[in-house]
Amino acid sequence: MKTVKIKDKKFSIFISSDKIQKSIDDIAQKINNDVKGKTPLFVVVLNGAFMFAAELLKEININCEISFVKFSSYKKTKSSLNVKKLIGLNEDIKGRTLIIVEDIVDSGITMDNFINDIKKYEPKDIKIATLLYKPKAFTKNFKVDYVGIEIPNDFVVGHGLDYDGLGRNLTDIYKIIE
Ligand code: IMP
Ligand code: MG
Repeated sequence: MKTVKIKDKKFSIFISSDKIQKSIDDIAQKINNDVKGKTPLFVVVLNGAFMFAAELLKEININCEISFVKFSSYKKTKSSLNVKKLIGLNEDIKGRTLIIVEDIVDSGITMDNFINDIKKYEPKDIKIATLLYKPKAFTKNFKVDYVGIEIPNDFVVGHGLDYDGLGRNLTDIYKIIE
């Protein structure tokens, strides 16, 4: 089985890039249907969502804008409860349809904080698209509108996701070997 070593941890292949691409195409088709006639603003959460966002947006065929935000919430393989916003939005989002693009929704704490933050600026609608979702780790109530692939509570790397800064460039997704 294909494995990679990143610093002190070993990872084995978990989701192939083919499967990832199919799930991204499915999300794009749904968004193209749901948001037809609107000009949504895609808000990409850096760094993890950069690869997913690039692939997703190439399949979006409606007029749209794209912007980027950045937080820090993760230290190595443990989620921290303190989510800091590092780069904010410059666009006026009042009355607009936002589609937040994330690499993974785990506990949901990062996204929940962000949603509560941007609601203050009165967007018309907020939709969430995530490549990966860990339903068993999720502790919040918001609706995740578009999910690529649901995964168990294992730490994963690749396709944008990192372990301590490394592994984002891997095409496939790997899971940690305990
Ligand atoms: P949450 O706040 O627990 O939902 O986690 C949010 C962020 O933690 C995600 O946007 C990821 O950047 C990171 N994260 C969560 N789970 C993993 C994982 O399995 N691998 C790599 N990063 C992860
Ligand atoms: Mg992220």
